Amino acid sequence: MKRILVLNGPNLNLLGEREPDIYGSATLDEMMQALGEAARERGVQITHRQSNSEGDLIDVLHEVRDQVVGVICNPAAYTHYSYALRDAISAVGLPTVEVHLSDITGREEWRRVSIIKEVCIGQIMGHGPEGYIMGLDLLLEHLAEQS
Ligand code: DQA
Repeated sequence: MKRILVLNGPNLNLLGEREPDIYGSATLDEMMQALGEAARERGVQITHRQSNSEGDLIDVLHEVRDQVVGVICNPAAYTHYSYALRDAISAVGLPTVEVHLSDITGREEWRRVSIIKEVCIGQIMGHGPEGYIMGLDLLLEHLAEQS
């Protein structure tokens, strides 16, 4: 069965209690459970990792690069300044979808910039937890087109 890496960046472990007016009340576990169920329905499996460290996120990408067919990534604040994460996504060459719970284009000026965007096949934002499932569908469509 095809496997997809879901990578969540810093502070997303606090979802549920973190700024619920922006990010909602669902926890990361709840979101990943719903995503896992959606993946099963679509005949794929997910491997989920969350880290608050840039290097850990990069290490995970390196480690699983031969075991997965694509990546769904919410890089959180690293979206806006991590050239190292951007390079890692580019280096492993896996189709990657960037997901954000909030609409970063309607927030602070510094948050509107994504340096990850260019190395991704698509960007989903502003749809809350549903965005991860939309990201999964986008990735699966892309993979189907490639095969
Ligand atoms: C986020 C948006 C980022 O700007 C922020 O740093 C996050 C969460 C989102 O999912 O909306 O931590 O990626």
